[in-house]
Amino acid sequence: MIVILLGPPGAGKGTQAKRVQQHHNLMQLSTGDMLREACETGSPIGRQARAAMDAGELVSDEIVVGIIAERIERDDCAGGFLLDGFPRNVAQARALDAMLAEKGRKLDAVVEMRVDEEALVKRISGRFTCATCKEGYNDYYKRPKMDGICDVCGGNEFFRRDDDNEETVRNRLETYRAQTKPLLPYYEARGVLHTVDGMAGIDEVERQVAEVLKAA
Ligand code: AP5
Repeated sequence: MIVILLGPPGAGKGTQAKRVQQHHNLMQLSTGDMLREACETGSPIGRQARAAMDAGELVSDEIVVGIIAERIERDDCAGGFLLDGFPRNVAQARALDAMLAEKGRKLDAVVEMRVDEEALVKRISGRFTCATCKEGYNDYYKRPKMDGICDVCGGNEFFRRDDDNEETVRNRLETYRAQTKPLLPYYEARGVLHTVDGMAGIDEVERQVAEVLKAA
């Protein structure tokens, strides 16, 4: 099965993608995570991507399409995968269509996660991550059971993303409205678009996503 999770920054794509990977055996492919890793290692792709990411703009289609084209060839994607953060504009969606057609594969579902803008800003400003195991937390919605200690690995170091500052978040939301939102009619016209209530609690969103996947 091939699925896209689509939604604005902070909608919960990464949170749900990890759960889907765990429970439905679909490999999570997050272009954001891949680009952040490239930035950390200082690779040529990372150096090119960093300025756009810091500004809340999209990294070039050439880079992200290249990353995904290479990634979906690997064995761990043979049984299916879940795209988190890709495609992000119509050109990337067309490139994905072409990649899948070439391999005789098809897109099964696009899950739109709908969340109010005010909630997005609160979610992003509250987000922090365990530096050791990368478990995600939130000041408002998901604090560790013991302050300062990761529930999963017991680590005591956490970090916040560079692009989670107010100005960059505003730009990321604007970029979503201008470039990514047009994907909703694009996929609706292809009969694969489903919408879940991203304002619900994390477990309830997971249930709604699972229902979509079951019917797809
Ligand atoms: P990317 O990493 O994809 O970031 P994003 O789309 O802005 O999304 P986020 O990771 O901020 O949010 P999310 O929806 O995953 O929410 P999360 O689950 O963390 O991209 C970063 C940058 O990389 C882009 O700006 C761009 O520059 C570049 N890039 C990436 N892909 C690209 C592409 N294809 N083309 C070009 N450039 C690309 O949840 C957020 C918080 O809310 C968490 O703290 C979580 O605990 C909490 N939360 C989640 N769900 C709920 C809920 N239901 N209720 C309450 N809290 C919740």
